[in-house]
Amino acid sequence: MNEYYDAIIVGTGAAGLYCALNLPSRMKVLMITKQQADQSDSFLAQGGICMLRGEEDYDNYFEDTMRAGHYENNKKAVDLMIRSSNSIIRDLIRHNVTFERDANGELAFTREGAHSQPRILFYEDVTGKQITQTLLSEAQTRDNIEICEYMTMVDLIAKDNICGGVIIMDEKNNVYPVRSPYVVLACGGLGGLYKNSTNFPHIAGDGLGIAMKHQVVLEHLDYVQIHPTTLYSHKPGRRFLISESVRGEGALLYDKNGQRFTEELQPRDLLSQAIFAQMEKDDTEFVWEDMRPLGEETILKHFPNIFHRCMEEGFDPCKELIPVVPAQHYFMGGIQADLGSRTSMKGLYACGETSCNGVHGKNRLASNSLLESLVFARRVADDIIFAGKPEKCPVNTIDTSMYEDRDAILDGYHKMVWNEIERMKRA
Ligand code: SIN
Repeated sequence: MNEYYDAIIVGTGAAGLYCALNLPSRMKVLMITKQQADQSDSFLAQGGICMLRGEEDYDNYFEDTMRAGHYENNKKAVDLMIRSSNSIIRDLIRHNVTFERDANGELAFTREGAHSQPRILFYEDVTGKQITQTLLSEAQTRDNIEICEYMTMVDLIAKDNICGGVIIMDEKNNVYPVRSPYVVLACGGLGGLYKNSTNFPHIAGDGLGIAMKHQVVLEHLDYVQIHPTTLYSHKPGRRFLISESVRGEGALLYDKNGQRFTEELQPRDLLSQAIFAQMEKDDTEFVWEDMRPLGEETILKHFPNIFHRCMEEGFDPCKELIPVVPAQHYFMGGIQADLGSRTSMKGLYACGETSCNGVHGKNRLASNSLLESLVFARRVADDIIFAGKPEKCPVNTIDTSMYEDRDAILDGYHKMVWNEIERMKRA
């Protein structure tokens, strides 16, 4: 790792990688990640990625996104995301990302909750891995991109609202100040703050806390999405998603008496509320999901990852019901970003789950997250390419002695973020 780069990207999920790949090869780019490069929540995305299916689908796709988001969405961001979807998908295919195809070789589409028609591209039930692994492999071959694993951002180098780099620590508490005129926060959401989450535990809102420390504007910290169906387990640890596309393909939900109690394809927040209410009524810790209506062939072909995980936990989804429970999944709030993914601090960008450009409103529509990450990551790259000369950050000397213990520093940020979420929930 050097002391200076043309751009620093924090996070190696879909947003970070796509931003890096869209920057010109003349720019030296540093990517850092807290753990292994493939341990981002983008890798875990199961269901798929939305694509506008022709002009005739525009109004419906727009309305589905707005309705799921309780009409709090930024309409311009929604329009931009939807209108960019075809070029993003074409570009992914150019990067060798594989999507499922029908018998005629045409792209195949699945459906998820709150979508008025199937418009979700997928690869088995590991779409996030397919996309992100492909982008990561390509980034690893680029001479101008350096990926440093087990490196954690603990602060920004910033003064007078101008960003000039990042303070990084490794797992042995060594400190590395690295300067750059452009810093991109693509470090995911905050699931690690929750006991029950589908997210990797190390993704815990560090970037949000650091932004708060520097008075960068944040928005809607209380807009936290609960996914309705994760595999119930009494063991601690990350919750395993039972993709919404399983319900999109026909799975049904049952209460403890074997009765259906709700409509399975409602927006996520409404369905989670219905499940919680049923669990309370029945005094149970889960409800049942029945994948059998899909048939064994579809389960094994479309959902092999889910099938194997259920089997590991002792449930055969081809033959029996599986216990499911809602868990934290996604974060619609974040660092306020405009349509160029610029934050309120000069030289600082945010994209992906870390950012809040308003595209999801109060509740994200299924399979809009990978698309949003890619669309607005490319906007970062475009903005950097076309930005004039960056303003120089007036930080001259950096006192590294204040960064002693990485975990204690992160703990402080996590507490700040948590307290703010609680405050906003009360407000
Ligand atoms: C899922 O497959 O249910 C999750 C996909 C998403 O979060 O959009």
